[in-house]
This record gives sequence, C-alpha cells and structure tokens, in this order.
Amino acid sequence: MAQTEALLALLADGRFHSGEQLGCTLGISRAAVWKALQRIPELGLEVHSVRGRGHRLVRPIQLLDRERVLAALDATVARRLAGLELHHSIDSTNAELMRRSADLSSGHACLAERQTAGRGRRGRHWTSPFGANVYLSLFWRFPFGAAGLGGLSLALAVAAAEALEDLGARGVGVKWPNDLLFDGRKLAGILVEVGGDAEGQCHVVAGFGVNVGMPPGAPVDQPWADLREAGGTADRNQVAAMLLTRVFHTLGRFELDGPGTMLQEWRRRDILTGRPIRLHLPHGERDGIARGIDGSGQLLAEIEGDVEAFSYGEVSVRQLD
Ligand code: BTN
Repeated sequence: MAQTEALLALLADGRFHSGEQLGCTLGISRAAVWKALQRIPELGLEVHSVRGRGHRLVRPIQLLDRERVLAALDATVARRLAGLELHHSIDSTNAELMRRSADLSSGHACLAERQTAGRGRRGRHWTSPFGANVYLSLFWRFPFGAAGLGGLSLALAVAAAEALEDLGARGVGVKWPNDLLFDGRKLAGILVEVGGDAEGQCHVVAGFGVNVGMPPGAPVDQPWADLREAGGTADRNQVAAMLLTRVFHTLGRFELDGPGTMLQEWRRRDILTGRPIRLHLPHGERDGIARGIDGSGQLLAEIEGDVEAFSYGEVSVRQLD
C-alpha cells in the first residue's frame, strides 16, 4: 500500500505521467508501478491510461499533508495539540480514537483520506470517498462526568460553522442538534461519542465530516451540499486546520464554562425555529412547531399548545415545510 500512496501523490495533479517516469521517481520497476496502479480503483479513484502517454487520475485530488495542516493551525492549538495522525484509509476516525481511548491524551486528533465505515448519528453511514472531503476526530478528556456534557454537541456545531465561515462559506445554518446545512442540504455532520463515567470523569471523541468537494455520483443517502458551492475554499488542509483550531478552542472553553454564550451563537444560526417539524421518537412520531432550545441545548417543540423539551438521545427531527 505504501507504493500506492506514493504513486497517488505523483498522480494527484490529474496530468499524464509515463510508467517509466513514475518508476524512476519512486525507485521501483515498471511492473511494480503497474501493480500499484491496479490498487487505485479499490480506493474509488479512476485511472485513465493511454499507450504512449502514460497514466492520469480522471479527477485530480489534493492529498492531505500533515505538515501543511500543522503549519496552518493557530499558535496556541499547535502548541497544545497532543498528536495528529493521518490515515490513508481507515474504517472510521471516531472508531479508531474510541478504540484507543485508554491510551490517548486530551487533544489528540485523527484525519483520514477516506473511511470505509464512516459513522453518522443514529447508526447511519457517513459517505467518505477518498481525497474528497474532510474526516476529522478529536479526543478530549473532561474532569467531570458525562452528565456535564449538556449542550456540547451544539457548541461543537457553532465551532464548525465558524470554521467554515472563516474559510469563506456564507449562509451556513444549524439544524438541531448539530447538522450544518447550506441551502437546506447537509454540508457537515458531527458525531460525538462519549466514554467514561456519568459522574466522575469522562472523555469524548468529537467527529466532523465536512463535504468539501463531493465527487459527482457519490452514494449519499440525503440531499447534500459541499463547501465549494457554499463559497468556501477547496483546500482540505486549510479546512482541517481551521476546523481543528475552532474545535480545540471550543472544547477548552466548554471544559471551563460549559456551553454558555455558545448557545446564543447557535440560536443565531438555527434554521428550525418557528417552523413545522416532525419528531421521530422511540415510540412513534409527533408533529409540532420548533421553538428553539433551552439552556442545556434541548430542543423545544410546541405540540398541541404545550411546549416540551427533547434531548438528542431520544429524538431526531425533520423540517416539514
Ligand atoms: C451525522 O450523521 O451527521 C454525523 C456524521 C459524522 C461524520 C464524521 S466523519 C469523521 C468522524 N468519523 C466517523 O466515523 N464519523 C465522524
């Protein structure tokens, strides 16, 4: 696989490269180049080979570059980051950090070029094609129990929205609890997984999937948008760095003060308030009108004249109009 990785770095520009030139640069035989080329379609990328001209990627890609991500972090985050790992292909960056949670320090981050079993909320799959989007997870330890994490998901949605705005995106809204939408379509999703005690100490893995430049025809099971069409940069290293910077600061602030003012910021971006919604509950569906959130980030919904609060473990919500 290492040879395929090295080969991809050369082919990323989308131009033709001859087998001879590729072999020479990588210090391998033409037969080894050919073998490595055969593995590229397994990553979901298409190679176009023409006798006499060589090989090229049908769609050029920008690979993640650990040094470029580190160089683009804000100075405080660069100093405090416990680790940054970059995977070519992994099942899920969240699953990876959860598996190793006993050994990780707070502030450890994981990025991947693709996920083969990307996890979404409520057991859904997160489509994660190679080299197209950003898949980032950050591990954090809290000195208090999971009962103190109310509002964290919403605060993280604000952090991600701010990062995308820093990168040039406009019109990014939040849909309870932490979906980021552009033009009513999903731009980014956040999965927060929690371990440890309810009362003692706990840790979280906060996972962010940002659609940066989704390839046409990608098998996504919901309407989606990408950062490019929202007016943001297509530079994935910049996206990863900005997201990491904003999220790192938000987790630090949350650890000290809870969600506080971040819920105000969330309300400013809320796209549901005042709209008819359908709540999907463990025991059926209920329709109502979204009435914003309470001080711990629970969804408020007016149903038959009464306002009720719902927490995100128990409910998912869909806009009806
Ligand atoms: C959602 O359903 O909206 C949440 C999607 C979260 C996807 C990200 S991609 C990086 C991290 N690793 C995963 O397996 N999931 C999260």
